Amino acid sequence: MLLLRGATEVVTPSATSVPLSGEAMGIVERHPNADVLIENDKIVAVGKNLESEVAEIIDVSGKVIVPGFVDPHTHLVWAGSREHELEWKLEGRTYQEILANGGGILRTVKETRNSEEEELQQESLIRFKNAIRSGSTTIEIKSGYGLEEETELKQLRVANWLGNLGLAETVVTFMGAHALPEGADRRSYISFVCSMLPEVRELADFCDVFCEEGAFTEDESRFILQSASENGFGLKIHADEFGDTGGGRLAAELGLVSADHLAGSTLDTIKALRDSGTIGVLLPGTPFAILSDHFAPARKMIANNLPIALATDCNPNCYTESMQLVQQLAVFRMNMSPAEALVASTINAAFAIGKTDRGCIAEGWRADLLICDIPDYRHLTYHFGINHVDKVIIGGKIIDA
Ligand code: NIG
Ligand code: FE
Repeated sequence: MLLLRGATEVVTPSATSVPLSGEAMGIVERHPNADVLIENDKIVAVGKNLESEVAEIIDVSGKVIVPGFVDPHTHLVWAGSREHELEWKLEGRTYQEILANGGGILRTVKETRNSEEEELQQESLIRFKNAIRSGSTTIEIKSGYGLEEETELKQLRVANWLGNLGLAETVVTFMGAHALPEGADRRSYISFVCSMLPEVRELADFCDVFCEEGAFTEDESRFILQSASENGFGLKIHADEFGDTGGGRLAAELGLVSADHLAGSTLDTIKALRDSGTIGVLLPGTPFAILSDHFAPARKMIANNLPIALATDCNPNCYTESMQLVQQLAVFRMNMSPAEALVASTINAAFAIGKTDRGCIAEGWRADLLICDIPDYRHLTYHFGINHVDKVIIGGKIIDA
């Protein structure tokens, strides 16, 4: 047992069995001068002056405790890097132009195909540990830099390997439909992706498709997602990153677990997503990284009761592991409040990857907690650009990442 004693405040979303939306997204519970008692991997009590004869006591005076961050959208397993593309972006080349010329995703595909599994493990482990030290305690990871069987499987194995190291948990997503490989025929590639689904199911719980101009159309995405659903996958989509191009509407039509990006979604699409019970996963690091001001309309989404989550999108185009930075961008660039950003990075983010046991600090919830060196939880976003996380507790254990 572990007793965290004397926190300045313990701050948490309210316990809920459905994602928080609307005004409820802006409310967090603040317990001043509180302790947290943990038994095995669960929280057993939160309150003042808790006692335990057997627990190891950790003095957390002067610190703030919040739930561990859940990062529900990353492409963290890749080889190589693309710092030269930042210079191209500064010269005015767009993300889609770079991709259409064999750069972007296709460049990373080449590097990931050429990397030995052990190298891929070691490169990814560095990022995985960065993510944990920045407060991520559950991390979703997608494949999609193989676009052929051997490398897709290699990426999925590495994502599972990371989750079995006793650090953070991973949730793994198959994204064979991330881009059309160079020289491939569209129809045959889509059949190939669908043919991989049964074998990949052992390695991945979700299937995701990049539905966008230059990637896959709405009809192609529907076909792949329906076949993934028949194979028992949870479903996700990269949608409306640049405009309302059908992906958001498709997510609503099929009732996907999440629709991610949504920077270009219209009000009708936002309402359709809300009605279908889909969670909007917003990735403000992405417009930031492509030097764009086109952030998702978070205020419109909250006003229309669409539950939203935040994620890093960690990938070689948008290279950050930090959910703290993402919350800061959400506040400074999407006008979300610090409370909304915290809710979107904890309990709502957990729902976006099908987890209902984490993201809240209350009796019975999983003991994934962050001890932060700040005087008030709002400093997580107000004081930007440094790591506020002092200790990370995952499943009741202090993690040294
Ligand atoms: O979510 N948009 C598609 N996929 C990733 C980017 C991947 C890459 O550029 O390597 C995204 O932004
Ligand atoms: Fe992505």
